[in-house]
Amino acid sequence: PQKIIIDTDPGQDDAVAILLALASPEEIDLLGITCVAGNVPLPLTIKNARIICELAGKTDVKIFAGCDRPIARPLVTAEHVHGKTGLDGITLPDPVMPVQDGHAVDFLIETLRAEPAGTVTLCPIGPLTNIATALTRAPDIAARIKQIVLMGGAYFEVGNITPAAEFNIYVDPEAADIVFRSGAPLVVMPLDVTHKALTNAARVDAFRSLPGRVGPAVASWTDFFERFDKEKYGSEGAPLHDPCTVAWLLRPDIFSGRHINVMIETKGEFTLGMTVADWWRVSGRAPNAQFIGDVDAEGFFALLTERLARL
Ligand code: BDR
Ligand code: CA
Repeated sequence: PQKIIIDTDPGQDDAVAILLALASPEEIDLLGITCVAGNVPLPLTIKNARIICELAGKTDVKIFAGCDRPIARPLVTAEHVHGKTGLDGITLPDPVMPVQDGHAVDFLIETLRAEPAGTVTLCPIGPLTNIATALTRAPDIAARIKQIVLMGGAYFEVGNITPAAEFNIYVDPEAADIVFRSGAPLVVMPLDVTHKALTNAARVDAFRSLPGRVGPAVASWTDFFERFDKEKYGSEGAPLHDPCTVAWLLRPDIFSGRHINVMIETKGEFTLGMTVADWWRVSGRAPNAQFIGDVDAEGFFALLTERLARL
C-alpha cells in the first residue's frame, strides 16, 4: 500500500476523505492524520478527526495537533458551510481515543526523514499551514516527498470564499505559495473538478442504505452540507471536494487534467489566494502541478459507496 498522511480541518467532506482512506487498507497505509485550523478552529478539527476515526472503529490511527492559525494572517473559518461544530448534520459521541504527543509539523518532518525518500504521499485537504511550516523548517523534506495530492484552488470555476479564491488557499495564501514553489510533485484538485463530484438524491440514498453506522452518517453529513451549495449556487447537491484527493490515489484513471504552472496570488487587492493556473501554457513558467479538471462522477460515487460499505 501507498503510505500517506492526511492533513485536514474536518469538515464533512474531510470526513468522507478520511473514511475513504480508512476503508482502503489494501491500497492505503494511513501513517497519521495531522490537524490544522481551517473550517473551524483547531480544537474542533482535532475533536472531529477523532470522532471520524471512532465512527469507523479505527481507534489506533495516529492523530496530531498542528498549527492553530495561518502563517501571516488571522484565521478565517467556514461555519457558514460546515456548521458550528464543523461536522453538523449528525450528533456523534464525544471521542475518547487519544491525540498523539508532539506537534503535527514535527511528525511530518520526522516521518518524511525516517521513511525511504519518495515513498510518502501527503494529502492536504485544509489550509496548507502545517505543510508549509514543515517545508520551511526542514527544506530537505521537499525532495523526500513522493507527491502532494491536495484539495485547493480553482481556475475556470474561480472562487467560493471570494470571487477569485477557493477557501483552503485563501485562508493561508503564504503557506500555499511555499507549497507550490517547493518543487515537490503536486496533484491539485481545484473546484473545477470537485464541483463535478456532486451528490444527488440517488447517491445519498446509496450511502444511507449501507449497513452499519458509517453510510447513514455520511448521508446525514452530505444532507447538511448540500444545503449551502443548493441555496447559494442553485447546485444539484454537495460537492465532495476533499474525497477527490484520496479517490485519485485509488483510481487516477477516472480523473483528467493538465501538467501546468500554478502560482499563488499573495498580494492582490481583489485576488488574494487565487491559484493562477497557466492552463493555456502562455507564461513560459515551468509546470509544477498536475491540475485536475474533470472526473467521471459515476465512477467516483461507485468507488465511494463500495468502499464505505466495507467500514
Ligand atoms: C474546501 O474548503 C473546505 O470548506 C472544504 O472542507 C474543502 O477542503 C473547499 O473549498
Ligand atoms: Ca477541508
